[in-house]
Amino acid sequence: MSERIIPLVDLRASQRTVQVPTNAIPATGALHDRLQRPLRDLRISVTDRCNFRCNYCMPKEVFGKDYPYLPHSALLSFEEITRVAGVFAAHGVQKIRLTGGEPLLRKNIERLIEQLATLRTPEGKPLDITLTTNGSLLARKAKDLKAAGLQRVTVSLDGLDDTIFRSMNDVDFPVADVLEGIEAARVAGLGPIKINMVVKRGTNEHEILPMARHFRGTGVVLRFIEYMDVGATNGWRMDEVMPSAEVIRHIQTELPLIQLEPSAPGETAERWGFTDGSGEIGVISSVTQAFCSDCNRARLSTEGKLYLCLFASQGYDLRPLVRSGASDTDLASAVGAIWQQRSDRYSELRASLPPDAGTGSGRRVEMSYIGG
Ligand code: GTP
Ligand code: 5AD
Ligand code: SF4
Ligand code: SF4
Repeated sequence: MSERIIPLVDLRASQRTVQVPTNAIPATGALHDRLQRPLRDLRISVTDRCNFRCNYCMPKEVFGKDYPYLPHSALLSFEEITRVAGVFAAHGVQKIRLTGGEPLLRKNIERLIEQLATLRTPEGKPLDITLTTNGSLLARKAKDLKAAGLQRVTVSLDGLDDTIFRSMNDVDFPVADVLEGIEAARVAGLGPIKINMVVKRGTNEHEILPMARHFRGTGVVLRFIEYMDVGATNGWRMDEVMPSAEVIRHIQTELPLIQLEPSAPGETAERWGFTDGSGEIGVISSVTQAFCSDCNRARLSTEGKLYLCLFASQGYDLRPLVRSGASDTDLASAVGAIWQQRSDRYSELRASLPPDAGTGSGRRVEMSYIGG
């Protein structure tokens, strides 16, 4: 068992003040950062709470009964989120992912989806609206989510073996209920459904093949994710990372695969197809093969801070501006100025260190707070 690293500083309080620049930055849909990366994907965390305690994300020892979650008054309202998302859409965002914590724990999330579904890109197209969930409430909510305008879901699932799954979510949640949620999402038409499996060596690597067999031929796209050194509480160690190349080799022992072309620029997953035509899988290799060079993702925390990287230690606090009566033009200029000076590329920098150099501490916010 690795030693837990408990954050000494609550980085949620660490922030940069946002100012409206003197020169207006109009939202033309063509914003680029210092590394010439466009802004295409906005991930919005709608709650910092979750009903699971996955060890790699919200370990029980840290996220216990007394953990100071954000008070309700701190959260952006649905109207505020939609307004901010509209500004991002004007700057070129085409995809919105709702995350958490567990986004389905946010009360009336369907109302937010309805509002986001009214947004348009500068070309007049609706945005791709999706959501990452642990699946626990999906059986109950899939139909209403679809009716509200959600297009698809990604479900986190780390194994099919009930004992392993219960121990990884650390709240004894049965795998059958998540599978039921996935089925409800399929019936509701929330596809293409993706499944995210974080692979932790020594914990669930024996689930790789059963998962591949289970979802092959169903149209559901299973993605294997390298366990990342995100946050500061999971006690990350390189020897618990299973490189994607090894995952692919392991699957190939039984199910032959061929690499496929990327379907969109800047995507996280490398795609592999089963040679018998029974579908595809993905591998997300942020540890062994960083994909920062075309990272087009921004993250908005539950209380309105903008993060430019999953591994950032500070966010830009948009909430005071949103609540100050600033116009959408001012808001667009402020967001534009922040993106234009972005140069984050954490995974690339970490990949250039020796393999065992990162012991995972560092001053970083938690993924449950800024969203996956
Ligand atoms: P699709 O549009 O459905 O392909 O989604 P996506 O792959 O863009 O998003 P998703 O949230 O499903 O990402 C899957 C996993 O990749 C996340 O849970 C993270 O573990 C990891 N990930 C996503 N975005 C980033 C990123 O910007 N940097 C790093 N290092 N990892 C990321
Ligand atoms: N490494 C990789 N992925 C992680 N997630 C959370 N913590 C980690 C981590 N340490 C991702 C998982 C989950 C999503 C909500 O966040 O993919 O599906
Ligand atoms: Fe909750 Fe997802 Fe984090 Fe697990 S990975 S604790 S389900 S937010
Ligand atoms: Fe983007 Fe940061 Fe992830 Fe690199 S580490 S892909 S810059 S979020």
